[in-house]
Formats: sequence, structure tokens, C-alpha cells
Amino acid sequence: MSDYAIHVEHLTRKFGDFTAVNAIDFSVETGEVFGFLGPNGSGKTTTIRMLLGLLKPTDGTAHVLGTDIRHATRQFLAQVGYMSQKFSLYSDLTVANNLRFFGRSYGLYGQRLQQRMEFVIELAGLGDFRHTPIHELSGGWLQRLALGAAIIHEPKLIFLDEPTAGVDPVSRRDFWELLYTLSQSGTTILVTTHYMDEAEHCERVGFIYNGDMIAVGTPSEIIEQVVPGQVIEVHPPDALAAQQKLTSAMRSGELAAHGVNLFGAAVHVLTTDVASTQAYLREVYGATYQSMPTLEDAFIALVQQADHANGGSPVPA
Ligand SMILES: Nc1ncnc2c1ncn2[C@@H]1O[C@H](COP(=O)(O)OP(=O)(O)O)[C@@H](O)[C@H]1O
Ligand SMILES: [Mg+2]
Repeated sequence: MSDYAIHVEHLTRKFGDFTAVNAIDFSVETGEVFGFLGPNGSGKTTTIRMLLGLLKPTDGTAHVLGTDIRHATRQFLAQVGYMSQKFSLYSDLTVANNLRFFGRSYGLYGQRLQQRMEFVIELAGLGDFRHTPIHELSGGWLQRLALGAAIIHEPKLIFLDEPTAGVDPVSRRDFWELLYTLSQSGTTILVTTHYMDEAEHCERVGFIYNGDMIAVGTPSEIIEQVVPGQVIEVHPPDALAAQQKLTSAMRSGELAAHGVNLFGAAVHVLTTDVASTQAYLREVYGATYQSMPTLEDAFIALVQQADHANGGSPVPA
């Protein structure tokens, strides 16, 4: 177990009769970037709060950096960093003073505090804004500062709860670059997101849905398990109608596919029988495009399976 930064067994949290996190199991290896994915309300924040010792599990256990989370101490908290979903920075203070404030709250002072501030400012690329009151910063820069504040005390493990939510795509990509840099220096990272495209940045991912962990693994493992074969994409004039029609064709066996998903104005048909599927689709819709399935294809398939198991309802009663 010592190779794991996080080891979770059967972790469960209920709020009254409602189960927000349902007996989940997963592990995060030391040094890994682990993506914790799922739509809003699926239990990501609740899980993180339990892993930080801020919320008591109803059942199950978890060890974080070897500590049983039921006995989280101040010493434990000094080794972990947390960028919460609604991070609080001080809007009238400058970038440097915000970092100084967070550093002091972790017991840093003097030369060590100065060193850590410089390190974080350099890492986050905040040098030009050192003396800028942070209410003048854009969302992308605030996110970088919030990350800096979360790592000022040099934690071994950081929890980032939707750090890229509401940030423009360029800033999101830059933020991921920053996470790679941090990871290369040996920090273990657990990062949540509801942007499925960001999953491909992670070494391993766990996908939580309605409190259930419905897949854990490397992106390629999950893709291979859930959506083997290829994606054949078509661009029909009415994508929704085409999706419905192709789904019936698949169910009746007329189309040799195992998934038909809507992707914007395109339809993705998942198949291991590329030749016959391509021929079928070409006849009906003209040009087809072939590609490898993505994690997003896998997640759509997993969600459909989970909803089906729940009697077709997206939310359990
Ligand atoms: N303190 C609470 N009391 C009651 N329900 C809660 C509480 N915290 C979270 N929940 C519910 O638990 C579910 C999971 O929430 P959360 O962990 O915040 O999801 P996520 O972070 O994935 O969006 C949601 O349905 C939410 O409304
Ligand atoms: Mg959340």
C-alpha cells in the first residue's frame, strides 16, 4: 500500500437517505496525474472532502499518504494541498500578498516563505503581476494563482477540484501544461473535471456517475474495454433523426455496430466490423470518416449502460 498516495476501499457517503458516494474503490499511485471525472452532482467534491478528512465517510475506508482519513491530523494536512471548487483569494491584495498570506497560514516564514513565493510565481508565470491587486486578473490567471496558493507549502499530493471550470480553452490548455510541470517535479495530482476532453491529459482516470465509480484505468484501457473497434463518423442533414434511425438499425441487427452517439452535428457509429458498417453508412449518408474511439465515446457508452441498469432513468429514485 505504500506505493499508493491514495487508496480507497468501499468509500461511501450518505446525506440522509441519499447516497452521494456509493462504495467506491480506487487507488492513485505516487507521482501520478489521476483524473477524477464525472458530470455535475456525481460525487467528486464529496469524495475529495472525505479524502481530506473534512467530511466523515458513512462507510468504507481511505488511506491518503498512508494516513487513515478518519484520523487526519494537522501534520497530515501539511502534506496535502487543496484547490477547492470555490477557492477563496483576497481580491484587494496583490498576487504576492495573497501568496504570503497562504504561506504564513501554513507556517512558512522568512527565507523559506520568500523562496516558496518565488518558486510559485515562477512556476505559474505570474512574474508580471506580482504587485497587481488580484481583482484586476482574468479568470485564467486567478486559477494559476489559486494553484500557486495550494502548493505554497510544497505538498506531496494535491487535490484540484475543477480547476479549469469556466476558463477559456487556451487558459485551460496552459493550466494543464502547468500541471505536467508540477507532476514532473514529483507531486501526485488528483484533479476533477467535468470536461471529458481533459481526461486525455491524465495518466489514469476514474469515472464517477451518480455516486458509482463506473470505470477506472488508463484512457486506452478504458477505451479498449468499453468501445473496442473504430468510430465511423457521418454528417447527415439531421443528426438527431439519423442517430435514432441508426440506433434502430443497430438494435435490429441490420447495422453491425455497438453504439450510435450524437457528437454535435455528427453521428459516431462504434463498430468492430468497419467494412460493412462503412458500406452501410456510405449508401445512406455519403462520405464517412474513420477514427479511433475517444474516452468521450467510452464515457457515453458507460453512462448509457448505467442508465439502462437504472431502468432508463438518468437519476436514481
Ligand atoms: N452537505 C450536503 N447535503 C446534502 N446533499 C449533498 C451535500 N453535499 C453534496 N450533496 C449532494 O451530493 C451529490 C454529489 O455532490 P458533489 O460531491 O458536490 O458532486 P460533484 O462535485 O461531482 O458535482 C449531489 O447530488 C449533491 O447535491
Ligand atoms: Mg464538485
